[in-house]
Amino acid sequence: MTSKKFSIGIVGGGYVGLTSAACFAELGHRVRVLDVDQSKVDALLAGKSPIYEEGLEALIQAHVDAGSLTASIDVEQVIPGSDFVFLCVPTPSAPDGSADLSYLEQASRDIALHLDPGAVVINKSTVPVGSTYVVRDQLKRSDVSVASNPEFLREGSAIYDFMNPDRVVVGCVDPDVAQRVADVYAGVAETEFVLTDPESAELIKYASNAYLATRLSFINAVAEVCEALGGDIAQVSRAIGLDSRIGPSFLQPGPGWGGSCFPKDTRALATMAEQGGFEFKFLNAVIESNEEQFDLIARRAVEMLGDTPSGKKVAVLGLAFKAGTDDVRCSPAVEIVERLVKEGVEVAAYDPQASPGIEGVAEVASPYEAAQGADLLLVLTEWPEYGDLDPERLAAVMSHAAVLDTRNVVDSNAYGAAGFAVRQIGRPMQFDLRDGSSRSTPT
Ligand code: UGA
Repeated sequence: MTSKKFSIGIVGGGYVGLTSAACFAELGHRVRVLDVDQSKVDALLAGKSPIYEEGLEALIQAHVDAGSLTASIDVEQVIPGSDFVFLCVPTPSAPDGSADLSYLEQASRDIALHLDPGAVVINKSTVPVGSTYVVRDQLKRSDVSVASNPEFLREGSAIYDFMNPDRVVVGCVDPDVAQRVADVYAGVAETEFVLTDPESAELIKYASNAYLATRLSFINAVAEVCEALGGDIAQVSRAIGLDSRIGPSFLQPGPGWGGSCFPKDTRALATMAEQGGFEFKFLNAVIESNEEQFDLIARRAVEMLGDTPSGKKVAVLGLAFKAGTDDVRCSPAVEIVERLVKEGVEVAAYDPQASPGIEGVAEVASPYEAAQGADLLLVLTEWPEYGDLDPERLAAVMSHAAVLDTRNVVDSNAYGAAGFAVRQIGRPMQFDLRDGSSRSTPT
């Protein structure tokens, strides 16, 4: 692969656009970001990241200072002279579950007349099968190529994922153009390049996310089986993952899966399949079982409050949809907290980064402040610092020493020894409510 340096335009300065921009600059390219939001552009030009993502701000700062990364709200400042233009605009869910392509279509029309002949426009956003042709039809430029290059970046480790991809997928009707897009990635860690047709590239993204979500719902269900029959999900999950055909990742049970991608992409795939004449029954069941997981956790919290939730106080640890991000879009934590607030529970929440501003929820500055006078400690996000809390100190300020840990991050023995009733996911309840005595594994 050549290591030619290119001029790259990025349309949309969200998670995907910003990470891609900073990483392409790191690979040595000249990168310009186009966004409609002047305050975002100003932040970028000042070397600041408008979002929290590990390592992103340092990378942005370095490349803005070096002159290899810049931003503008003016299409003329970004698109002319770009060899490659990556579309990184949102594709939210339409009310029927399908992906709303209006941003993508608008962005395509906005750039159409400013593209250099021979430029390549690339869909990086997660877009329905067929969208490469939608962009082509909006551009109406026979001298410009269109390709699909889906992203597989996890929030919280997006930069690592960009630089160390499991694979790079490029879909294009013209194999030479696909190879040119692949060349832009020269400099990332050694990886497999999958050069394919546009439809396959688009589907690879949806199928990957849907499979991962399915796997999580599966392990959450197995955790429930552990609760019903006995057995420890930590042991079960580890041993399942040791099978090389299965592998160890994405087998950690939790309060349900969320974020800006899985909920949207699973629904979109199910809807697309249905529109194509195939009823994706088990994907629908996966989506439904995830909603049920939120209900189940809320019910379990209410149970631990003695079934009289109104007026009780719950200390919530974690509001982001997972650790390492401030993102609360489709956050399971938010879903569960909202259910508790509806039951009349008083909630004080602590999250090191996220601040969704849920009505009726006090966001406080530390876990110990949240725990003050609480009847239950409810761990909803796996921030590592939650594993390091002092259970004695928590017990001393709580009204009742009880913890429901939906991420299995607290040391159940240490909490038990501090007098806590401890409940985790897929594990026998080690200590009885209120009195701290041992309970046998349910049979
Ligand atoms: C996900 C995919 O992992 C990325 O590959 C993809 O590029 C991205 O969506 C996207 O489509 O843009 P992300 O949304 O950042 O990335 O989140 P994940 O790390 O995949 O986590 C999703 C949810 O699953 C979270 O709620 C997380 O807490 C949960 N999860 C994950 C578990 O409950 N257990 C696990 O073992 C792993």
